[in-house]
Amino acid sequence: MESSDTMTYDVVGAGFGPANLSLAVALQERREGGTPRPTAAFFERKPQLGWHRGMLLPGAKMQISFLKDLVTFRNPASPFSFVSYLHAMGRLPQFVNNQDFFATRQEFHDYLEWAEAKLAHQVTYGAEITQIRPPASGRRGEAIEHLEVEVRGDSLPGGTRVLTAHNIVISTGLVPRMPAGVQRDERVWHSSEFLDRFTAWNPGELNRVAVVGAGQSAAEVVRYLHDALPDASITAILPPYGYALADNTPFANRVFDPSAVDDYYYGSERSRDVIWQHHRNTNYSVVDDEVIKGLHERVYGDEVAGRNRIEFLNLSRVCGVKRAADETRVTVMSVATEETRELDVDVLVCATGYDPMNPAPILGELDSLCLRDARGRYRVERDYRIATAPELRCGIYLQGGTEHTHGLTSSLLSNLAVRSGEIVASLLDRRK
Ligand code: FDA
Ligand code: NAP
Repeated sequence: MESSDTMTYDVVGAGFGPANLSLAVALQERREGGTPRPTAAFFERKPQLGWHRGMLLPGAKMQISFLKDLVTFRNPASPFSFVSYLHAMGRLPQFVNNQDFFATRQEFHDYLEWAEAKLAHQVTYGAEITQIRPPASGRRGEAIEHLEVEVRGDSLPGGTRVLTAHNIVISTGLVPRMPAGVQRDERVWHSSEFLDRFTAWNPGELNRVAVVGAGQSAAEVVRYLHDALPDASITAILPPYGYALADNTPFANRVFDPSAVDDYYYGSERSRDVIWQHHRNTNYSVVDDEVIKGLHERVYGDEVAGRNRIEFLNLSRVCGVKRAADETRVTVMSVATEETRELDVDVLVCATGYDPMNPAPILGELDSLCLRDARGRYRVERDYRIATAPELRCGIYLQGGTEHTHGLTSSLLSNLAVRSGEIVASLLDRRK
């Protein structure tokens, strides 16, 4: 049985991670000359709010200042700020005394939950948006003034709900990427599911673990395994010679400023390429200073103790995995010689990164009304709305998946507060 709403929402949000949480706050805070606040409903497929829980490793730090929270860059006086959270928790003086711009991921997660609790009435959990489509009653070529949203999940009466909306904001997040041809299973994990998988095992059965990748996830997982499995041997398989430093120096960090979005968006194809070439190392395939140092200290400590617990296979990539019953055989190729070798492990952790958000599957037939550039990527307006064929009058906004148009902050937290404000302003403008 399908349940249907009769009202048409101004906006429906797909996903309720930090991006749409920030949008929900921006909608809440927007009051303009007595205009009624846009009506909104958000749907999240997880059973509760969770921000990369599989990587909520003890001691893991945020990669941005606590001031780049859900709101502060748009509204420093917001009651949803990280500072307001600290105040509410009675920890503001201690946080300041701690003299660290970078909170732990656990504390930031707690902040997100605190903010979410004030807006929970707008969110349905355990509810996946499976399709967004033109209304069934519409005729081909006619103007489309609202969209139908199909939601599925055990939390819904009858398992399905269909509602209508004038605008959709898709914030469904990054998609875990595995090495080509490698499938996930109980012994071959992606880092995004690391803690869920790890805690389901008896640590005593994990004697040989390999971790693939040279980014922040890989380094954090290797560090964690070194501490959690004192008797195991750990193999780190990484393409460069060693973990490289994430550039978070002050001038380079300007690439995450709200104004950098305009520089990128209105720049030429060439200037965008230059920005990528110079600043990819602020985020991708790089590791924070503190994690590199912590890991090196552990490796050196092992050397002093006369035992080598982490083996580094550098200049190496994983190019295949053979699985049979309890056996997991990894094929590792040297990027220097192209020779391969085989490695038997109990578990392989692929910290091999993520693909950008891809809205095409839930857009279904609507996708053909979304305009694309010569390279097949969505054309996206400055207000994060996909450029669409003229008959589609509804807004389909993206939070994520816009690195080609809006730059590096697309999948990050740095610009959430400002971006959400810009989307709300656009929704209100278009409503007029
Ligand atoms: P996010 O992935 O958080 O949320 C998307 C949500 O949509 C998910 O909850 C998902 O379940 C839901 N969803 C997906 N499809 C759905 C559907 N069809 N229907 C309903 N729900 C659906 N960045 C940064 O700036 N600073 C940092 O410190 C970090 N730290 C960090 C740690 C780790 C381990 C990772 C992997 C990434 C980061 N990042 C980061 C980058 C990260 O992308 C960013 O922090 C946010 O998660 C982006 O928020 P979003 O809401 O866009 O995606
Ligand atoms: P990433 O930065 O994209 O790194 C993926 C790594 O995997 C790269 O080193 C890549 O090497 C390597 N790789 C890919 N395929 C491989 C293969 N077949 N064999 C060997 N190596 C392979 O991904 P990430 O580390 O998951 O980071 C993603 C995002 O999450 C970043 O924004 C990061 O900052 C964030 N993050 C944050 C935290 C935190 O806040 N504490 C923790 C974890 C992650 P190549 O580049 O050579 O392909």
